[in-house]
Amino acid sequence: MTSAKLDKGGELPPSLPDAAAEHAGLSEEIRAHDRRYYQDDAPTVSDAEYDELRKRLNALEAAFPDLVTEESPSQSVGAAPSEAFAKVRHAVPMLSLGNAFSDEDVEEFVARVRRFLQMKPEDELKITAEPKIDGLSASLLYERGVFVRGATRGDGAVGEDVTQNLRTITDVPERLAGDDIPERIEVRGEVYMSHADFKALNERQVAAEKPVFANPRNAAAGSLRQIDPEKTKGRPIRFFAYAWGEASAVPSETQFGMVENLGRWGFPINDEMKLFDTVEGLIGHYHAIEALRSKLGYDIDGVVYKVDRLDLQRRLGFVSRTPRWAIAHKFPAEQATTELLDIDIQVGRTGALTPVAKLKPVTVGGVVVSNATLHNEDEIARKDVRIGDTVIVQRAGDVIPQIVSVVTEKRPESATPYSFPTVCPVCNSHAVREEGEVVRRCTGGLICRAQALERLRHFVARGAMDIDGLGDKQIEAFYEWGQIREPADIFTLKKRDEREGALTSLKNREGWGETSAKNLYAAIETARSQTVDRLLYGLGIRHVGEVNAKRFMRHFSSIDALRAAARAAVPPDRDVKGDKGNEAWREIVDIEGVGAIVAKAVVEFFQEPKNDPPLDALLAEVTPAEMEKRASGSPVSGKTVVFTGSLERMTRDEAKAMAERLGAKTSGSVSKKTDIVVAGPGAGSKLDKAKEFGVEVLTEDEWLARVGEG
Ligand code: IVH
Repeated sequence: MTSAKLDKGGELPPSLPDAAAEHAGLSEEIRAHDRRYYQDDAPTVSDAEYDELRKRLNALEAAFPDLVTEESPSQSVGAAPSEAFAKVRHAVPMLSLGNAFSDEDVEEFVARVRRFLQMKPEDELKITAEPKIDGLSASLLYERGVFVRGATRGDGAVGEDVTQNLRTITDVPERLAGDDIPERIEVRGEVYMSHADFKALNERQVAAEKPVFANPRNAAAGSLRQIDPEKTKGRPIRFFAYAWGEASAVPSETQFGMVENLGRWGFPINDEMKLFDTVEGLIGHYHAIEALRSKLGYDIDGVVYKVDRLDLQRRLGFVSRTPRWAIAHKFPAEQATTELLDIDIQVGRTGALTPVAKLKPVTVGGVVVSNATLHNEDEIARKDVRIGDTVIVQRAGDVIPQIVSVVTEKRPESATPYSFPTVCPVCNSHAVREEGEVVRRCTGGLICRAQALERLRHFVARGAMDIDGLGDKQIEAFYEWGQIREPADIFTLKKRDEREGALTSLKNREGWGETSAKNLYAAIETARSQTVDRLLYGLGIRHVGEVNAKRFMRHFSSIDALRAAARAAVPPDRDVKGDKGNEAWREIVDIEGVGAIVAKAVVEFFQEPKNDPPLDALLAEVTPAEMEKRASGSPVSGKTVVFTGSLERMTRDEAKAMAERLGAKTSGSVSKKTDIVVAGPGAGSKLDKAKEFGVEVLTEDEWLARVGEG
């Protein structure tokens, strides 16, 4: 398993930036697992390990509600587009929503919005509240009022072209009605299936001896993503419009008004969308919708709140991939009671031993559950979970089920407290818990088959080196055969295969033939020049998920440059007040989005002598390509910008968010690499430094003029 979040089960990052960095890495990681699970049908971690990641994420979010994002556990089955469909790059990314789980979270959301906008208590702030439909989002593009293209959300940036399938949905108008329809508009909303239609569909599936769908959401997704649109046609899927993306014009100043427009133009919109100007109003409507839930006839999993004024939405912008102007207030999770049959121990990439509860299958919220996470040793002890116990299981959205508690009255007399193994069930090495850690780890390192395999799997996976033909089974076979034990071995495989007698030629081995061997070698050759951020991600450094890998490689030109900085880095000495670490450390930690925890993980990885030989061997085999550049075209894209002093026309957060939207990097400190310092009144040492380094200095007005917002 990937990461380290487990290590710090209880301990939380000291500050929001640290937590944010960890959160971003973790979210990326979970998304990568989702992709492998949902799309490739080839998960690389156990459910329990996956749960650990999610649990850590939940803990972070509970402690730092600002972090709550949709990439996190809650609802989205974050799967990138499948190869079976043409890809559609969304002109405006399809984002997800942060979550609120309590009234306090909602209060905090509203307070945050007000703070960000520097509103006075008496200033009015209207917010819409509407059901959160439990389906999958879709984007429908209309040109001159005619439906021309439809796509799934995919990973938010790129979705699947499902135009023909969407055309079969009666709720999706082929042509819009009205005299104020924008020339070009992309309408967004949710594709879903009603309870009645779901039931009927499953009955038909049974009759046809086909597998049934677990829930209406899966049924809607499966139906929309049929390769043959004729098949979609027979499926009763529906659509609610609630948002829009790219638009040549937005003929309203408010969310509410614009959704009403969508209704007028011909889309079904939800009757339960209402407008409020107090938190009490929002929460009141949440409960009203909750009360209606069972009568709606379709699944909803919460209520979405959105700031009504579009100019305010624009100012609020986004953090990571969720809007600051909206949040999803989730309904509580669903629960059921069942029997715990056994406890399985799984070993992950970092050697973490993760306990998984094997349950007597039970239906929870429409899904049959037979595994649940037990997180770790302490958790088992804390809940005193014993084999044979009757337990309460809970699942929320797509989260892997958890055990909430034991029904002790039903405990059989024979049940004894569970004793956690102290040796690795895979390699028999000692399994130890380091001080302050909740996780027991196998000390076998690479001699532990489980760990070595997990690392290799991660390296070749999608999102990382993406080597087709090296799936889990193949990695395992090559490992057993002794041909691939570390990443570099992948790239020397062909040479060894060609050296006569060195290995039984791959093409003659069982499961392989001339073509598949040739294809594999071709895929490996291509991977040599995989982009450098993916290479970094593939190394499996703690907290370095896809997003953080990009952050590092946007800043450093190569892995070698990153390694040099990491090796030279001296983090601050906690006992020395005001110590900020040396320059190399600060260069790493000041990268936007990277905090002390991520920086530390990277520094530790590159400073660990054991990592050098495999890394050197690997670097000798690859010639990584530059990573894809992001949004170019803005006058500040690719530039590093530092904001200092007080800003008058916007808050610091707003300024940073704007810069990033325009493709700039922002940083907290000035160095020779800084391109622009935006200095407001009261700017101090950073301004001096900028002058010293000859960095361009702009006033706030000049900055706004530069980016065309002045
Ligand atoms: S607004 C930028 N409104 O929830 C925000 N989303 O958690 C765009 N969803 O991917 C989303 N009902 O699939 C919005 N009334 C609603 C929704 C809704 C369901 C889904 C949607 C989105 C996910 C985000």
